[in-house]
Amino acid sequence: MRMIDLIEKKKRGETLDKEEIHFMIQGFVSGEIPDYQMSAMLMAVCFQGMTPEETSELTWAMEYSGDVIDLSPVAGCKVDKHSTGGVGDKTTLILAPIVAACGGRVAKMSGRGLGHTGGTIDKLESIPGFCTSLDRETFFRIVNEIGLCVIGQTGNLVPADKKLYALRDVTATVDCIPLIASSIMSKKLAAGSDAILLDVKTGSGAFMKMPKEAAALAEAMVAIGTAAGRRVAAMITEMDIPLGRMVGNALEVKEAISVLKGEGPEDLVSVCHRLAGEMLLLSGKAEPESVEEQVTEAIDSGRALERFKAMVKAQGGNSEAIDHPELLPKASFTHIVKAKADGYVRHMDTEGIGIASMLLGAGRSRKEDSLDYGAGVELCKKTGDIVHAGEPLAILYASQERLFEESEARLLASYEIGDEKPLLRQKILARTDADGTKFFI
Ligand code: URA
Repeated sequence: MRMIDLIEKKKRGETLDKEEIHFMIQGFVSGEIPDYQMSAMLMAVCFQGMTPEETSELTWAMEYSGDVIDLSPVAGCKVDKHSTGGVGDKTTLILAPIVAACGGRVAKMSGRGLGHTGGTIDKLESIPGFCTSLDRETFFRIVNEIGLCVIGQTGNLVPADKKLYALRDVTATVDCIPLIASSIMSKKLAAGSDAILLDVKTGSGAFMKMPKEAAALAEAMVAIGTAAGRRVAAMITEMDIPLGRMVGNALEVKEAISVLKGEGPEDLVSVCHRLAGEMLLLSGKAEPESVEEQVTEAIDSGRALERFKAMVKAQGGNSEAIDHPELLPKASFTHIVKAKADGYVRHMDTEGIGIASMLLGAGRSRKEDSLDYGAGVELCKKTGDIVHAGEPLAILYASQERLFEESEARLLASYEIGDEKPLLRQKILARTDADGTKFFI
């Protein structure tokens, strides 16, 4: 078999078979297929697409390109969750304890943030002492004992995706549904959970700007997971507005704690309730008629917060910081960004808000950048709010005052203020399962 023939075939819009796809991925990971040939193939896939069968084969070839995790030492149905990435998305910190409090099992591997989106591992590491690199036995033991544990990706998990993603990043081949779906699902399948809830974001802060594109991605991922014998569903959720009011690592941990205490902003609370309910339904730990009640009870009784505290303690973190969030890292300086005009906040460029937070030190523009855990943005006004000139739009947090100028400019440019009240979308736009996508609008 020759790679050039496979490129030619895909260029003509033909379908690659199982042997061809496995040959291509194995050859690329071993270095026998060079980057320039794989780049040509990736671009051909962007133009010609892939059938659902090809996308599934590509996913499995990628999944088995390295280690796969066997979660069988953890008793019961293990449920995972994946967000396609957003700004202020701290849902994992809230969902995992709720699910554990309701008898579910969350053995989760999460990633770090890059660019305008944050990563769960960075948020958890902002808790003093919290350790996200544990050996497998400790990981399994903690999940068995307390129902949840979140660690960074360990070992040689899906090396094909690491190599392919790096190439896609520099060849303008990231925004292609079969490539995104296989990239995400190969990692989710290799991570070993029995059930997977996908949170597919749509809007100005997401990969998929339009709900229809998000539905196509959700359907592709659900089909892959279902064909692999896992229980999979996807929720399509709003990312045209940042989720909650806090953006930045320790700030987001504080906000997550407030939701687990039964407080917190309405948008974040409603999304978390629904996603937690879906995770419980997928794991067989709830029935549709009582799931909302179960989630509410887990929070109101304090059991979800107690699970979060138990996880922090088990992973070496200072669990006192949960009751005393003032023990979390704090920025040395704050700066209030004031509105320049009266009106309604008509729109927020959510990606721009993520970048404003990154510029304060809360995120990385390059993989090797270090983070300032206390840095970030508190949003005082969001889309739909009325604002008067001179009123605070947002509060910036940073450890160096010189960082405020560029961040403030980026933040102001991300707010559109005008006379007309905007129409607000629902936070949860649709649900996808093996039967297709149901829009709630
Ligand atoms: N996230 C991933 O893991 N892969 C993609 O291709 C896009 C988003």
